[in-house]
This record gives sequence, structure tokens and C-alpha cells, in this order.
Amino acid sequence: MPSVPRDLDAFFAANTPRIHQELFDFLRIPSVSARSEHRGDVARAAEWLAGSLDRAGLRTEVLPTAGHPIVLGEWRGAGDAAPTVLVYGHYDVQPAEPLELWASPPFEPTVRDGRIYARGAVDDKGQLFLHVKALEAHVTVRGALPVNVIVLAEGEEEVGSVNLESFVAEHADRLRADAVVISDSAMFAPGLPSILSSLRGMAYFQIDVEGPSTDLHSGSYGGAVVNPAMALARILATFHDEAGHVAIPGFYDAVQEWPARVIRQMRALPFSDDAFLHEVGAPALGGEAGYTTLERLWTRPTCEVNGLLSGYTGEGAKTVLPAKAMAKVSCRLVPDQTPQEIERLMVAHVEHVAPPGVRVTVRHLHGGRPWRAELDGPLFDAARAALAAAFGTEPVIVGEGGSIPVVGDFERILGSPVLLMGFGLPGENAHAPNEWMSVDNFDRGMRAVATLLEELGRR
Ligand code: BES
Ligand code: MN
Ligand code: MN
Repeated sequence: MPSVPRDLDAFFAANTPRIHQELFDFLRIPSVSARSEHRGDVARAAEWLAGSLDRAGLRTEVLPTAGHPIVLGEWRGAGDAAPTVLVYGHYDVQPAEPLELWASPPFEPTVRDGRIYARGAVDDKGQLFLHVKALEAHVTVRGALPVNVIVLAEGEEEVGSVNLESFVAEHADRLRADAVVISDSAMFAPGLPSILSSLRGMAYFQIDVEGPSTDLHSGSYGGAVVNPAMALARILATFHDEAGHVAIPGFYDAVQEWPARVIRQMRALPFSDDAFLHEVGAPALGGEAGYTTLERLWTRPTCEVNGLLSGYTGEGAKTVLPAKAMAKVSCRLVPDQTPQEIERLMVAHVEHVAPPGVRVTVRHLHGGRPWRAELDGPLFDAARAALAAAFGTEPVIVGEGGSIPVVGDFERILGSPVLLMGFGLPGENAHAPNEWMSVDNFDRGMRAVATLLEELGRR
């Protein structure tokens, strides 16, 4: 079993309490990208991160975008012959609501049972920060990094990375790298380091249904005026057939077969439907007929309602025919579906099934391409060695149902292989109340990244 280099290990042993305190400072900044009232906090988190990269020895800039700023750090002292590694992460977080469900305040990091509880602890501030500290370790101990490094951190991942694709395209020369490394995902199980071989893509829609010009008395008008809530329900009900397949015409046309090797790896993973059912707490599992749970999560595209709004939802009964209804709908995509094509199909389908008597509009809010990789070559050999050194066991290859929109863009625009090695854990409550990151995974993550850089410098 390879091991973490001694001097770096000693640095982490001596500095970890300080590093944790710094992470807590980062987590105290409520950088909620979705909320305009947190605009200043998002900017403050960008500045804070830039300061920390600066102290780690990188040349750092905070670059404005049409939305939240991008933080760029660079260290190019390894020379032209050495490889260049681009580290990506996001410093924005999801809204913390509902606040009353948090056992400790979301922006007051608290350690309980070996876990750091805070919004952003694992998604993604904690995982981004462990990269910064791995860089600091090299610069402090060795006076240099083993490879050239670019750190690119964005503040809009949780709202769809809408300004990042054009940023990457415009700065492609500056961002050119031999490898992209990202920690923004979870390990398959505690103690089991994991490398992702796929992410689903995304096409996110808002569907608005408008009927009468105002809410109406449901007795005086109901039955003679089309009800927007019912019209929306009818539209949504056409999205799937009885077997759970998406019934939007053309939806599966671009879907490619999954490599047999990937399906084999998936089937070999220690996974139990019963444990999964227990984790989600639903009465039963459900989904597309003919696929296992992991296949449904990782290899199949979906269409889900994320939110519904219409009519009276307060206490007791109110007889009203609502003037309008709204649904938020997201499709998760797999290779080679594209958000643009799915938008076209969705708009055409909704137009086709919309009942008369209401006005229906479909808006595409944001999208991202799916991603799947072969995981061959020196980058992945180095990752396997580094993860084995830090965790004492070889990593497994896993898929992922979630999305990181920029990953496909990195591959397409920069032509770089992307390594996704995350240090979260199942049940980490990302996007939910009581989000946490394992302290042990944070500490091992730093060592894994430091070792990875060392390995890449040697290859
Ligand atoms: N870190 C997640 C992506 C992720 C989720 C990785 C689950 C591994 C497991 C990321 O921050 C995220 O939440 N992405 C959004 C993207 C969307 C806003 C375009 C997602 O998947 O919903
Ligand atoms: Mn994330
Ligand atoms: Mn997220």
C-alpha cells in the first residue's frame, strides 16, 4: 500500500486544528448564491477564499461576471515541462431554509460525533478548502508545488453555473491544463474512496399556466372556466407512462448504451435496496421498470417535479378557482442528450398536450451537459495511488445522479480529462437541513490531494 509523504503528513498533523478553525471561518459566511440579499456575502466569501489562496502562495484574482465573481489562483513555478492541474470547486451554497430543522445554526459550524455541521460543509466549501490546504502544505514544506496549478472557484454552481461556460471559453488559453481535479461529490460508503465515472446533466424548466384574470369563486364559476391547476396536473401527468418511462416524444433518441464495463463495476458495488429504502424513508422505491436502483440513479434520464404552486394552500378550506398554476420541472440527462435538444422536445410536447382554455408557457432556466469518462491514463493511476495512500484501501469507480454543469464544458473546451474524487458520505444532507462533512474525510482528503499532486509531478 503506498503511503502519504512523511513531511506532508507531519505538516497536516501539526496544522490541522488551525486548518479546521479557518474552514469554520469560511463556513460562517452565508454565501447563498440564489438569494439577492446574500449578494454581499457571496462577494465576501470570494474575497475570503482569494486571501486564503494568496497565503497558500498562489497569485490570486477575483474576477467579476454578470453574476457572482470567479476566484482564480495560479502557481506556475513548476516550469513548462511539468504538467498543469486545474482545480475546480464552488464557494456558493444552497439556501439553508427551513432553519427550524437545523440542530445547530447553519452558519455557525459545530462539530458533533466527528462531523462538521454547517451549510456548505461538504457542498462544496469543505471539499474546496481541503485542496487549498493541500497546496499550502506543499508550498510551506517544500517551498514549491510539484506541478503547475490553477484554482478556479465559482459562486454560481448552485444556481446552474450560468456564466461559467462562456468564462471557460473566453479564458481557454489561460485555463489550459493536463488534468482537471474536482472534489464536489461523495464516497460510496464510509472508508471507501471513490472516483466518479459519470454525472447526469440537467435541463431545468418553469411551466406557467394562466387562466382567468383573477382567482374566482369556485361555485359561481367552477365547471364553466378551465381550472389552471387541473390543466397543469394534466400536463404533468403526460410526462411518464405507466412503466415509469419518460413519455415526451424523442426524449430517449440521443441516449447511448452504457459500456458493459461500467455496468459490471456498478453491479459489483456493495449496494442494498433495503438500506437505500431505509435512508430515504419512503414506503417503497419506484422508478423506470427494468432497471436496478443504481442504474435508475446513474444511467437513466429523468423528469421530476421540483415544486408546485397554485390556489389555496393555507389552513382549512377555501373555495376558489385559482387564476394560475406553476411547476418547476427538472430533467436529468445522460449521454448524449443535450439541454438544448431536451428544451426543444419539452416545449413541443407541452404545447401539444396543453388543454384549451389556458395559456401555457415553458421557460428553460438553466442546463448542463451530462458527462461520462473512461478513466484511463496517468491521471487516474495517480488518483488511485493517492486515495489508497490516504484511506488505506483502493478506490471504487462509481456513477452519480447529480450534476456539475461545468464538467462537460471543461472536457469539451479545454480537452482535459476530469478527475472527480469526492470526500462526502451518504446521508451528508447536502441541500438539506443539518448538512455535514466527516472530519476524518476532510483530513484524509487533504492528504489524498497532497499525495495526488506529488504523484502527478512524478509522472
Ligand atoms: N455537488 C453537487 C453535485 C453532486 C450532487 C455531486 C450529488 C454528487 C452527488 C452540486 O453542488 C449540485 O448540487 N449540483 C446541482 C446542479 C444544478 C444546480 C445544475 C444538482 O445536481 O442539482
Ligand atoms: Mn457541489
Ligand atoms: Mn450542491
